[in-house]
Amino acid sequence: MTPEQNRHAAQLAFVASGAELNIGTPEECPLPVDQLVATRGDEPYVRERFSAGLTAHVYRIHAQGQDWTLKLAREKCKVQNVDGQTSFLNEIQRRADLRHLKHDPLLTDRLSAIVDTRYASFRHGVLLSPWIEGVAIQAWDERQLLQLFDTLVALLLGGLFEWDLCTGNTLDDGQVRLFDFGYMYRFDPLRAFNSNGTAMPQFHAAERFETRQYFAHLLRLEQDGERLALDAFTLEKRIAVEAYQGLRAELASRGAAPVVLDWLDGIIATWKRALVNDVSELYLQEAWRSHWLDLHDDLSGQTCTPSTLARIGWLERTARERYADVQRLVVVESKNRLFDQLREARQLAQRWQVA
Ligand SMILES: Nc1ncnc2c1ncn2[C@@H]1O[C@H](COP(=O)(O)OP(=O)(O)OP(=O)(O)O)[C@@H](O)[C@H]1O
Ligand SMILES: [Mg+2]
Repeated sequence: MTPEQNRHAAQLAFVASGAELNIGTPEECPLPVDQLVATRGDEPYVRERFSAGLTAHVYRIHAQGQDWTLKLAREKCKVQNVDGQTSFLNEIQRRADLRHLKHDPLLTDRLSAIVDTRYASFRHGVLLSPWIEGVAIQAWDERQLLQLFDTLVALLLGGLFEWDLCTGNTLDDGQVRLFDFGYMYRFDPLRAFNSNGTAMPQFHAAERFETRQYFAHLLRLEQDGERLALDAFTLEKRIAVEAYQGLRAELASRGAAPVVLDWLDGIIATWKRALVNDVSELYLQEAWRSHWLDLHDDLSGQTCTPSTLARIGWLERTARERYADVQRLVVVESKNRLFDQLREARQLAQRWQVA
């Protein structure tokens, strides 16, 4: 079995077993658990409700003199695959891991950007965290990128790989924060590239951020001029190089396997080469990969948005205007086959738009 199949089997077995998983105790809750579970959104203690969540109903509530985020599991997650259907359980499991890691003296400071969990119960489908008084990040600046990569490196060192670094999962309150762990999985950073072992070297932290979020931002920047997008890309890659070098050094000192160190060396060398020569080829390569992968993520979960359509537009335009370059830099189908695939993707993306 692959690591992914193992995880699915274990999580589905846990669900079927009827076992409970808690973080904290009901006594630590600022409101009785029964009341939290019964929340519908019109109660006086509810200050805001979010309908965007695909896994959960999310409320901002006020209790005991402060605001909290109350996440209640949906009857059925809107994401139509096993990862989606087990994401609430997964989030509680990862929060338990994170609570443990936050006590590790080597990681405490470096994980301060990870939201705390006040209380969670899998069987009651409830998860309570302090409210983050933050804003969504539109245009990533240097501080924000540095903070995000710091946190990502700490998570990797702690053996946690976050797959879903989309815009809805990052907030900035002076510190870039992470708070949604529905698609964060365990892995062994000394022996594996990500939670799929060594089978999928194309997936890593910077790739996840670029694919799920940063290239949507760069796509908007391209509209105001290619230079702006290239500069923002260069800034992100500089920071990623620094972060990956730090990660590499730390993993080496902990005795990481050569396969992991060589893999990181390869990524770092590619980025450095592009930074001293010409970043535009790397841009095209990573942009294509990001838009292509993100599109297929959305299609696989049947959860598409206007941003999915914008990405398809970029892929169509680029395939039309720069097919020879794309073919040289990434593995792609024949031109006809590629246009067929994009046409089909557009139809599906239109059908699977989520409100
Ligand atoms: N602790 C928090 N502080 C402030 N806002 C929060 C917090 N937790 C969640 N939110 C807000 O609620 C939204 C949905 O939360 P979250 O991403 O945890 O839910 P979800 O159902 O798992 O989402 P999805 O499956 O779509 O990623 C977030 O995009 C964010 O705007
Ligand atoms: Mg989310």
